[in-house]
Amino acid sequence: PAPLILTALLAYLLGSIPFGIVMARLFGLGDLRVIGSGNIGATNVLRTGNKLAAFLTLVLDAAKGGVAVLIARAVVGEDAAQISGFAAFLGHIYPVWLKFKGGKGVATFLGVLLALDWQVGLACCATWLVIAFLFRLSSLAALVAAGLSTAWMLVLGRPEMVLLALLLTALVYIRHSSNIGRLLRGEEPRIGADKKKS
Ligand code: G3P
Repeated sequence: PAPLILTALLAYLLGSIPFGIVMARLFGLGDLRVIGSGNIGATNVLRTGNKLAAFLTLVLDAAKGGVAVLIARAVVGEDAAQISGFAAFLGHIYPVWLKFKGGKGVATFLGVLLALDWQVGLACCATWLVIAFLFRLSSLAALVAAGLSTAWMLVLGRPEMVLLALLLTALVYIRHSSNIGRLLRGEEPRIGADKKKS
């Protein structure tokens, strides 16, 4: 299993590149961890007002998950692709470089799904977009998209991806615990509004 372990390790390292922090530095936006929610993801980069930096964070955080999957698939095979997708996701939320204090995993989750099965990935991206458009709540869109990912896999005939989806979804929910609290209290700021660190 050496190739499998090596591709998973590479996937973890790829996933652990905090593109939000990199973009915030490149664009001179300051330390994301003291801005908005304090998160290192694209939603929080957007709170700085820099749409390009937020867009690049979204694309790169998704791409690192997708690339991890594609490398493992090419080198080892489909099971390894799933394992590497999971490893890249773990890298994003628990990066060794940031003392394991990473992001919430949404963009990487979508990138992994797109690379594993573009139809499932697209269905989850569309779910995110619809909820984000209707409610202007990034976290709610993420929670609904993750929650429905298992259903999309079953509908689209990919039951072998369900275990991965359940694991990723559980972690997305755990990482959004403060968002869930704010949503329930009606205090979650909408996309386009500012908020204080919490
Ligand atoms: O992708 C993370 C998003 O769902 C929530 O981010 O910064 O509002 O906690 P944030």
